[in-house]
Amino acid sequence: MTERELDALVIGELNADLILTGDVTPAFGQVEKLVEDATLTIGSSAAIFACGAARLGLQVAFIGTCGDDEFGRYLLRQLTQRGIDCSGVVVNPLVKTGLTVHLSRGQDRAMLTYPGTIPLLRYADVDQRLFARARHIHLASYFLLDALMPDVPRLFHDAHTAGLTVSLDTNYDPKETWDSGVQEVLAEVDVFLPNETELCRITRRESVADALASLSGKVPLTVVKQGASGASAQHDERLYQAESIPVEVVDTTGAGDSFDAGFIYSYLAGWSLDRALRLACICGALSTQGRGGTGAQAILDQALVYLES
Ligand SMILES: Nc1ncnc2c1ncn2[C@@H]1O[C@H](COP(=O)(O)OP(=O)(O)OP(=O)(O)O)[C@@H](O)[C@H]1O
Ligand SMILES: [Mg+2]
Repeated sequence: MTERELDALVIGELNADLILTGDVTPAFGQVEKLVEDATLTIGSSAAIFACGAARLGLQVAFIGTCGDDEFGRYLLRQLTQRGIDCSGVVVNPLVKTGLTVHLSRGQDRAMLTYPGTIPLLRYADVDQRLFARARHIHLASYFLLDALMPDVPRLFHDAHTAGLTVSLDTNYDPKETWDSGVQEVLAEVDVFLPNETELCRITRRESVADALASLSGKVPLTVVKQGASGASAQHDERLYQAESIPVEVVDTTGAGDSFDAGFIYSYLAGWSLDRALRLACICGALSTQGRGGTGAQAILDQALVYLES
């Protein structure tokens, strides 16, 4: 076995997405309404990131937990079919796999989530034997990982000691405290990948500029996702900016995760920050052209066509 044959270990939540599409507002009182389409697909920021990274050609392994049920088996099958090593997924026989129902209406959506096994992933579930075989760890949806949260600084410290770099996409905090020890975690992060809202809430600043300035000297590289406008980054007190590309949006689910995959691909390849930001924006934008997070993720050659044009 070659050393470090895995590019990225992805740690995070695993759940399925059921996407209902239509110009429909649900109503109680036993009102039945018809939607235009229904799609079962891979959900969760971590899994969508893992699939995006694998599409770009990275060797990926997943660390997480799911239930011993049809949704869990569906997810493991889908990840494995994409070449993702799932030997680090712990199957919990007592709790069901999580599910999110999305009601998708053009660029907007409403979500209902049953977390299932997501909050139960523990430090002890993380198979650190994988660390010796990998170059990088990406942790997604920090605020959903209740049992792992207090140990994430220790986990990232272990990763650094084992010679890995670390990236973090906290995603939204459903408790909306934007705390839960995240400051301690940021001190151990090499690449922080929030969107504008998450960045401002976590740093308790009103503007992206102030928020980035507050992280200067604390987080080596912060990359902030700004939807259709593109993205910005801060590295060594220098600011970078990239525009997204115009696309016909079908569904924005997971655009941020596909963006993250593009960025981490470039980061591991040692690209310049300008080029990395542009590739990330292209990966995010292209992913919106299909239903669900993984329906239209770019392969590298496809993304490169946009990058060179
Ligand atoms: N409507 C759009 N048009 C063009 N590009 C887009 C659009 N939406 C997203 N993108 C691209 O995808 C990237 C990430 O999207 P976004 O800013 O929505 O991240 P996010 O809020 O983390 O998303 P997620 O909901 O997946 O967590 C953007 O920086 C942009 O490059
Ligand atoms: Mg996001």
